[in-house]
Amino acid sequence: MNKNKTILFSRQAIEGAVLRLAKQINADYKARPVVLVGILKGSFVFLADLIRKLDLDVTVDFAVLSSYGSATTSSGQVKMIKDLSAPIEGKDVLVVEDIVDTGITLKYFMDVLRQRRPASLAICTLIDKKARREVHIDVDYVGLEIEDGFIVGYGIDCNEEFRNLPEIWVIREEAEK
Ligand code: IMP
Ligand code: MG
Repeated sequence: MNKNKTILFSRQAIEGAVLRLAKQINADYKARPVVLVGILKGSFVFLADLIRKLDLDVTVDFAVLSSYGSATTSSGQVKMIKDLSAPIEGKDVLVVEDIVDTGITLKYFMDVLRQRRPASLAICTLIDKKARREVHIDVDYVGLEIEDGFIVGYGIDCNEEFRNLPEIWVIREEAEK
């Protein structure tokens, strides 16, 4: 298979989405301290840009989740590879994700976090593939919506490749001629 890529979101489009999200989050949390929880690895570039636009008292933590499957589909079996490094009880927690697709990964993670009794729990995703949702989750902040297609760049990978691309690209697999 050859991988054919075209740009879906330019640097400017991404920057605009990040700025819009930051404005909403700044307005909603006002002076409340917020714990940003980045889901690794996909969210690290987005989180790095978002956090610098937040005019709030912010701390950062990370979790590593994996859903086993092939390169471009998730299996529906989620596992926590690395848990948060600090308790979240009584805190305002905002989970930062690269893409919500079927919703299975975040459904699992939000259920785990909710049991720890945070004061509030919300989700911010850069990309929402709403049409592909298989389980219901409430996504509070959405940067960009797409219908379908496999994307890479801006921290998002395909088999660990392409995370360094500054834009978001869509991959099309084509049979070799
Ligand atoms: P979900 O559990 O189906 O919602 O899958 C969410 C996770 O699958 C995302 O956080 C990504 O890590 C990965 N994923 C979903 N769609 C894509 C894509 O188009 N490109 C790269 N990774 C993706
Ligand atoms: Mg992810």
